[in-house]
Amino acid sequence: MHSHLPAAIPEQALYWWCPDPAAESTLGDGPGPSSQQLNQHCSVFFFFFYTTVLVMKADKDCARNTTHSTFTRSVLCLSSIQHKSWKKIKNIVHWSPFVMSFKKKYPWIQLAGHAGSFKAGANGRILKKHCDCEQRCLDWLMKDVLRPYVPAYHGDVEKDGEKYNQMDDLLSEFDLPCVMDCKMGVRTYLEEELTKARRNSSLRKDMYQKMVEVEPLAPTPEEQEQQAVTKPRYMQWRETISSTATLGFRIEGIKKEDGTVNRDFKKTRSMEQVTEAFNDFVKGNQNILNCYLHRLKDIRDTLEISTFFKTHEVIGSSLLFVHDKREQAKVWMIDFGKTTPLPEGQVLSHRATWEEGNREDGYLYGLDHLIDILTHMVVTPKPDSL
Ligand SMILES: Nc1ncnc2c1ncn2[C@@H]1O[C@H](COP(=O)(O)OP(=O)(O)OP(=O)(O)O)[C@@H](O)[C@H]1O
Ligand SMILES: [Mg+2]
Repeated sequence: MHSHLPAAIPEQALYWWCPDPAAESTLGDGPGPSSQQLNQHCSVFFFFFYTTVLVMKADKDCARNTTHSTFTRSVLCLSSIQHKSWKKIKNIVHWSPFVMSFKKKYPWIQLAGHAGSFKAGANGRILKKHCDCEQRCLDWLMKDVLRPYVPAYHGDVEKDGEKYNQMDDLLSEFDLPCVMDCKMGVRTYLEEELTKARRNSSLRKDMYQKMVEVEPLAPTPEEQEQQAVTKPRYMQWRETISSTATLGFRIEGIKKEDGTVNRDFKKTRSMEQVTEAFNDFVKGNQNILNCYLHRLKDIRDTLEISTFFKTHEVIGSSLLFVHDKREQAKVWMIDFGKTTPLPEGQVLSHRATWEEGNREDGYLYGLDHLIDILTHMVVTPKPDSL
């Protein structure tokens, strides 16, 4: 799906609230100063206003010490401001509603999905193109035990004539976040998609081409003769080139500290390759690894008691890993666009082997593997990361 994208894209290219004034106009502020410019002016004013108040207060404090000259007093005042009041200024700057808008201008990273399916929302939220199925899931999840592990959902909104689901931006609490998207499950298509593909049994030369480009020996002798494959065959083969079919998850994309984004994990298949990618992502940082591991275990414990999870086939959903150099590290469940309710009374184990018709998705099978991999990395750190 992302074959048109370069494997590594500089982070700059993915700025969400683009600092480039030309791009700013696309945010639809109309004529006159943009809201960004107004906010910047307000923020500067606000900053100087508080600084002046604090200088006056500190000057009053210093004035008690009359043995100093005005110049010495000024120096003392400034140093006193620096020492005593900087913390105060910092807090004010941090909490000021005007300055909050500055906080928006961090790079928002989208590791998967179609370009254009997300927009900036108000108050550090993001807008994802509306999908009924996802909305139903998010509504339910807000009342389920899984709520702490999914982005808070704030209903749907309309923007520029299109409907969006509004949710929390999970990156907002991080400083230059490193992000990884792991798509969960032993398959990434719904059973009904396979059935639909079967109904149209035409032979696809384009899919055959894609297949041999990745794995020249994958087509059977018959397929080689036809120089074509059926769509269901292609869909099933595709899951076997990454770790999806064997480990129950695959890495979709990673954005690292140096700002590069890598989406080239289509053939990252073995436990060793996945471990290598994880190690590269966390740079062997044991604190971050431990945070991730704890969070994954909490998610697993919660999934095992969740009514939502028991009664849904969870396909194409991801675990989003986010950390930064302050060693904050968290994981959330995202993307419920293909998560569908089961018929009344049916439940899934999410660990049992998938056989067409049983709708098992292998989500927990994948999560068990993820936890095993991280546990192994915590116990045996790479020698060069010590
Ligand atoms: N709430 C969120 N906060 C921060 N980033 C998010 C959030 N939701 C999604 N993203 C980012 O956007 C990317 C795509 O999200 P998502 O998987 O929901 O979209 P999609 O269009 O359904 O994609 P696909 O179907 O290809 O998986 C994620 O990999 C992640 O980088
Ligand atoms: Mg996704």
